[in-house]
This record gives sequence, structure tokens and C-alpha cells, in this order.
Amino acid sequence: MDKRLPVRWLSVLVLGLFLLFSGKSWAAEFEPVSYTAYTSLFWLKEAGVPEAAEYARATGKQDLLLTGKIKNFYTLQPVNMLYHEMRYAALNQYIQQNGYTNVLDIACGFSSRGLYMARHGIRFVGAEFPAVAAYGNNYLKKCLTPAERKLASYEAADATDKEQLMAAADLMPGPVCITMDGLMMYLTHEQQASVLQNIKAILQKHGGCYITTDFSARDFVMDASKVVYGEKDARKVYRESAKVYEDIADADFDEKFFANDEEATRFITAQGLKVQRIPLFSQPTTLYSEKGLDKQQLQRLDNMKNAKIVWLITCESKMLAE
Ligand SMILES: C[S@@+](CC[C@H](N)C(=O)[O-])C[C@H]1O[C@@H](n2cnc3c(N)ncnc32)[C@H](O)[C@@H]1O
Repeated sequence: MDKRLPVRWLSVLVLGLFLLFSGKSWAAEFEPVSYTAYTSLFWLKEAGVPEAAEYARATGKQDLLLTGKIKNFYTLQPVNMLYHEMRYAALNQYIQQNGYTNVLDIACGFSSRGLYMARHGIRFVGAEFPAVAAYGNNYLKKCLTPAERKLASYEAADATDKEQLMAAADLMPGPVCITMDGLMMYLTHEQQASVLQNIKAILQKHGGCYITTDFSARDFVMDASKVVYGEKDARKVYRESAKVYEDIADADFDEKFFANDEEATRFITAQGLKVQRIPLFSQPTTLYSEKGLDKQQLQRLDNMKNAKIVWLITCESKMLAE
């Protein structure tokens, strides 16, 4: 027998123990940013979105987010529930109301949108880093019936890679609605530009549109904070909320956000794309996360729903609904 074997096993054991006790036992599995996929699923589940609770169960994880490590967790909780559910529900509503039958969710993480779309007869492709895509396909398998599974899948695709993203889109012939919840704030402006170029190429080939709230995510969180707590401390709540994600992903959001909507608009149009800011909801919409809110908060939420927007981006005036 090879005498070096026990030494090798001992080193594996020591390394394993080190990773475990340093809290980095996950480090080999995913890119750091990909752990935020569990965080976003956590908030959607907390909001009460039924398919998110189901998807969360499929992960088999007891702690999607180590809430005990977030010292102001109970302050951030209602704000994040609202923010995450609003962006999720708004994009789902747009897809259905505009008759799209193909959805390409870029950086879909472990969003339950795949479950939602498949169960509404809409083809869903989630474009993600390979490790997330592999886990995601497993989770989908646990939740969906064989017939539904034909409608939803993850594809390994880096959003900055034109060929990979196009290959994911090409799985769906015809116009495609491209969705994105929570990617742009992790990318440099150069990477954001290449993602926009890749999206443009898909829209030129397939037709359709790209919808997101990413370009106003900071204001969105601040406004959700105003709904819950009034005018006071919105920026502080946003900062603390952003920090949860920045710590997990080793990111700096303020470096990546545009100063205001006009600056973001200029950036997007400079990529040869057309931008519209459309109402967040086109019909009265009740959210699961409204349940715990009092009368005054609900009134502020109604105002927010009317004031907020979705970014609707196309490469020409030809969209599915036109
Ligand atoms: C905050 S999570 C959002 C997940 C999901 N959209 C949601 O709302 O639940 C960010 C996700 O972006 C993914 N991501 C980051 N950079 C990416 C890239 N270049 N290409 C594809 N996915 C990426 C990460 O793996 C992670 O799952």
C-alpha cells in the first residue's frame, strides 16, 4: 500500500475542518456572488410567495440566509420582502399581460420564476454560472412534473459571453422576454455594456424585449423603506440592506450604480437600445408581503406602486405586443 495515503487523507481532513470552522465550507462550490441567489430566494419566501417556499424546500437548506449574523435583521426584513416581491411580481405580470411565451431570465439564481412560468405554460430558460445552473436544474426537477419540466431549464451561460447567452436564447424559437432581477449592481460598467450588447444581439435575432428594475434598485429599496418606516432613515436602511449582499458577494454597489435615471438612460441608449420607463404594475396588484402592514403603510405602498417603474428596453420599435 502507498505509505503516502494516510498523509494525503490527513491533509484532506485538516483542510475540510479549516473550511468548516472558517465558515467558508461553501467556497469551492460557487462564485461568491452566486450565494446571493439563496439570499434573494430567502426574501421571496419570507414575503409569502408560495412557489418560493416550495423552491426553498427543494434546496434542502435549513438556512438560506444566516439571519443570526445580520444584526438588524428585523429592520431589513419587511423592506426586503417588499422590494423582492415587487420586482418579481412586476416582471411576471408584464410577461403574462404582453403574451410572451418565452422567458430568458439572465442571472436567475434560485428565483422561483421558473416554477411560476412553467406552471403557466410559458417556456423558461435561466442563464446562470455553471454551478448554479446544475443545482438549479436539480431543484426544478424536485418541484416540477415531467410535463412542466419540458418548459423550464437552467443553461450554463455567463451573461457577458455573447455565444453562451445566445445559445441559451436559441433554445426558444421566436420572440423572447428577457428578465433580470439583481445582476447589474455586481458588474463593472464595461461588463454591463457587454451584457447589453449581448441582449441587443438576442433581441435583433429573436424580437422581444428586456425588462428589469436593476437600473433603479437603490431607489427601489429606499422607497420600500419609506413605505415601512416613513421618510426617516431610508438611505441608512438601503445601505445596511446593500451591505448584506456586498458582504456575501464581496461587491461595492455604489461604485456600480448610475447617479440617476437620466445617466442610466444615456448609458443604455449609447448601446444602441431603446429605453422606456413603464408603470411597475399595469393593473391593481396585491402582494403577499402586504399582509403585515398597517393602514398607513398600505397607503404609502399604494403610492409607491403607482410611482415606481420597470425599465423596458428594446432594440427597435418591434415588440411582441405591437
Ligand atoms: C442577487 S442574485 C439574483 C438571483 C435572481 N435573479 C433572483 O432575483 O432571485 C445574483 C445572481 O447573479 C448571478 N450572476 C452574477 N454574475 C453573473 C454572470 N456574469 N452571468 C450569469 N449570472 C451571473 C449569480 O450567480 C447570482 O445567482
